Amino acid sequence: MRIKDDLYVDIQLAREQDAPFIIEYLNQVGGESDNLLFGKGEFSLSVEQETAWIRTINRSLTSRVVLAVAHDEIVGIGSFVSNVKPRIAHHGELAVSVKQAYWNHGIGRKIIKYLIQFAQANGVTEIIHLGVRADNVRAIRLYQDLGFEEVGRFPGFFKIDGQYYDEILMNLYL
Ligand SMILES: CC(C)(COP(=O)(O)OP(=O)(O)OC[C@H]1O[C@@H](n2cnc3c(N)ncnc32)[C@H](O)[C@@H]1OP(=O)(O)O)[C@@H](O)C(=O)NCCC(=O)NCCS
Repeated sequence: MRIKDDLYVDIQLAREQDAPFIIEYLNQVGGESDNLLFGKGEFSLSVEQETAWIRTINRSLTSRVVLAVAHDEIVGIGSFVSNVKPRIAHHGELAVSVKQAYWNHGIGRKIIKYLIQFAQANGVTEIIHLGVRADNVRAIRLYQDLGFEEVGRFPGFFKIDGQYYDEILMNLYL
């Protein structure tokens, strides 16, 4: 995908050897907004744990982790993770982030569309769900535009520097 005159972004499946770069990326984007579940340097998995997680995801028929890559640099990451328990295997959770320097170039949309198409095609998923901080207008607009609807609210889900923030729960019914 070409997003600027000199910038091409590829969406690639995460590989086990990407683990250290994914951790580095997540520790950076954690500090670029207060919209994720972790802040700068707070992503807690070791390289071994992250590698094992990617291995598990890549063996799953209903989960995926994708990287948006530009000039050999990870500029965005998305995941769609389903539970294996049969009674809740028909839905999975979507998460997405993009490096701040690359916001508003359509990368987040591209990642989410890729994961929606994967979920539509895997033959199992019926619902994609996600949680988003209630004041994250940029993300909520994007999710709504892609068909997600608000299905609930978790008051006080986030506690950041002593301040509470609600989480909005959104679903996309495939
Ligand atoms: C949310 C996030 C993933 C979006 O990624 P992105 O690559 O910037 O998204 P896109 O460029 O594909 O789309 C952004 C949309 O928001 C719109 N937008 C930008 N600023 C906005 C604002 N202040 N208010 C409302 N909408 C806004 C853009 O117009 C664009 O819509 P369009 O595609 O119709 O033009 C990215 O901002 C991010 O990583 N934020 C920090 C982490 C985060 O919030 N993750 C989501 C947690 S639930």
